[in-house]
Amino acid sequence: MNAAADPILEVEHLSMRFGGLLAIADLSFTARRGEITALIGPNGAGKTTVFNCITGFYRPSSGMMRLVHADGTAFLLERQLDFRISKRAKVARTFQNIRLFPGMTVLENLLVAQHQVLMKASGFTFLGLFGIPVYARAESAAIDKASYWLDRIGLLRRADDPAGDLPYGQQRRLEVARAMCTEPALLHVGRHEHLRPRDRARLRGQDRRRFARGSTQRFQGDRRLSGRRG
Ligand SMILES: Nc1ncnc2c1ncn2[C@@H]1O[C@H](COP(=O)(O)OP(=O)(O)OP(=O)(O)O)[C@@H](O)[C@H]1O
Ligand SMILES: [Mg+2]
Repeated sequence: MNAAADPILEVEHLSMRFGGLLAIADLSFTARRGEITALIGPNGAGKTTVFNCITGFYRPSSGMMRLVHADGTAFLLERQLDFRISKRAKVARTFQNIRLFPGMTVLENLLVAQHQVLMKASGFTFLGLFGIPVYARAESAAIDKASYWLDRIGLLRRADDPAGDLPYGQQRRLEVARAMCTEPALLHVGRHEHLRPRDRARLRGQDRRRFARGSTQRFQGDRRLSGRRG
């Protein structure tokens, strides 16, 4: 099978009703692995609601959302609790407002993202923190992964600076790197509306190059995309 044409997310007949308001009415689409899929529409069209259904924040009124990993494992997202969607189905998201730890360094922010893996290696005890080999190996793997993504987003040189000192556009990139450190199968990136137009264009160009190579599907809600492309 052609990897690029391999569906990763199939949404069928998705509807979401809030009381008398039908926010999503019978939406169907397929997102494919290694491609950027954009969801576009005017204010109130229901883009964020679709995100919230896929990430398990809302349970849809009806419809099916099927996520398929590269190894063929399939998850019916409408039947999962949201923590399962992030942990097992490996669906990650960034948020419209920045959620980094501003007082921690750039590198530390990426290590915290991998914290659970480190905790597992340490046997969930502080003993693990005293340098038992398996913990040391996990920590060094976490640093390697963080360095890889810092390099990809061009922020390796800022590794030891507080994240809060970075300009806005770089913090946004760091958030994407942080999400990538959790090795998601599907990454949702909210629109970049708070960026200056120049940063937005740059970020989008970088994302396209970065994710076209990787196996992660990037899924973006941006009502401006259509206008800019057209
Ligand atoms: N929790 C909720 N309760 C009630 N109505 C909601 C809720 N969330 C969203 N809605 C309504 O659903 C519709 C779709 O909203 P949504 O936020 O998904 O649109 P959007 O496409 O993301 O818009 P925008 O471009 O402004 O971000 C709107 O009419 C909104 O008021
Ligand atoms: Mg929205």
